[in-house]
Amino acid sequence: MTDYTVEFAGTGETITVSDKETILSRCIEEGIAQEYSCRVGMCLACSAKIESGEVTQPAARGFTDEEAEHYALTCMARPQSDLVLDRGKYPPSIEDDAARAAGADPDAVSADD
Ligand code: FES
Repeated sequence: MTDYTVEFAGTGETITVSDKETILSRCIEEGIAQEYSCRVGMCLACSAKIESGEVTQPAARGFTDEEAEHYALTCMARPQSDLVLDRGKYPPSIEDDAARAAGADPDAVSADD
């Protein structure tokens, strides 16, 4: 068993997670406010962008292979190196779907652009 450091971007929160446990399970134990729902890799609520490092998440069925290279489903993901994660970030395809569901045009240019 190997322990890795998982840092959450912009929060100052850092936890130690072994390669045998999921990032979400350690977040729950440590009181980190990581969102989740299904805990079986389907709902995508626990998504985080991988800013650096690598995870293994073979059971993360909610992501395509390409998405899984850049995003972690923390309920399934186990660290394979030290990590920096940005919690609450979703692949663009999922962000677009969420925007459409909310009635927004994801391709629209906002006043902030
Ligand atoms: S909690 Fe549903 S995919 Fe992780």
